[in-house]
Amino acid sequence: MTEDRITLKRPDDWHLHLRDGAMMEGVLPHSANHFARAIIMPNLVPPVVTGADAIRYRDRILGALPEGAVFEPLMTLYLTQETDPADVRNAAESGLVKAVKLYPAGATTNSASGVHNFDGVRAVFETMAEIGLPLCVHGEVTRPEVDIFDREAIFIDEVLDPIRRATPGLRVVMEHITTSEAAAYASEGGSDLAATITVQHLMLDRNDMLVGGIRPHFYCLPILKRGTHRPALIKAATGGNPSFFLGTDSAPHATDTKENACGCAGCFTAPVALSCLAEVFDEAGALDRLEGFVSLNGPKYYGLPVNHEQITLERGAPIQFPEAIETDAGAVTVFNPDRPVHWRVL
Ligand code: NCD
Ligand code: ZN
Repeated sequence: MTEDRITLKRPDDWHLHLRDGAMMEGVLPHSANHFARAIIMPNLVPPVVTGADAIRYRDRILGALPEGAVFEPLMTLYLTQETDPADVRNAAESGLVKAVKLYPAGATTNSASGVHNFDGVRAVFETMAEIGLPLCVHGEVTRPEVDIFDREAIFIDEVLDPIRRATPGLRVVMEHITTSEAAAYASEGGSDLAATITVQHLMLDRNDMLVGGIRPHFYCLPILKRGTHRPALIKAATGGNPSFFLGTDSAPHATDTKENACGCAGCFTAPVALSCLAEVFDEAGALDRLEGFVSLNGPKYYGLPVNHEQITLERGAPIQFPEAIETDAGAVTVFNPDRPVHWRVL
């Protein structure tokens, strides 16, 4: 590694939205370009609920991969009030499914089928604890009276901690954490608890989204928080604790559905995620920890091998961000943090 070049084991993305159909065909190559594997979110319409749904979705993803691309979709099941523990067990034991996704009902895009009664899914949690299958958690309460900026911190105390106490051995990934409270909780949970962090939450806070005009392409859920939380997230990502790893939460929406009077939540970061992360780690003086965050900690938590291949990034003049990618489901605006990023993937 020289100062201006860094070579890493090929990264994985531990939280990715690929969608389906024409949108998936358009966005998939941008993840496959840089990432070897990704945990694929199941919030399609209708959601990926059963093992049989996951097989079909995986086959559609593999069928949409460009010629020569090597990319392994790691499938997840969308937990509903009706999820059958035996189906979860079979899907996990066959190697097909790598996690179950918990969306509190109504928390975010396409989450209407999510869980509203956590006691009602207890049998699924117990099966998962028994077989070591991780639960990926969208950690926000959804009670309408709770302020959107407080929803994550309250979820930890009201929902997550009670679930973990009631189900010893349940492995949990706190997804896309956005607060110092979540970073602190995740760092003290031992080897069963992990957290993913996105690019946008490491680079931006709510002022970036709201001061001087509203920037819909910075709107995602959980929402960007007060600036005081960002240093805690950077410290978690760059601090070398193996409980933290990358989940981009790259979440494509057609540009016209974001630049809209009621815009969709989600940042499409996949094409530029690694460049942005190298910038964040470089600024923090922690380039030597980038590989842990993007390539090593995730496989370790999931009990999967680290990738053999490598990827190299180079520092130079600020990179040109693509404005959008074209898909047959419309143009999708690419995340741009609106500040210089000097690292390009070779
Ligand atoms: C995601 C989406 O669009 O599916 N949106 C987002 O803002 N992150 C859903 C999610 O992960 O919350
Ligand atoms: Zn997501």
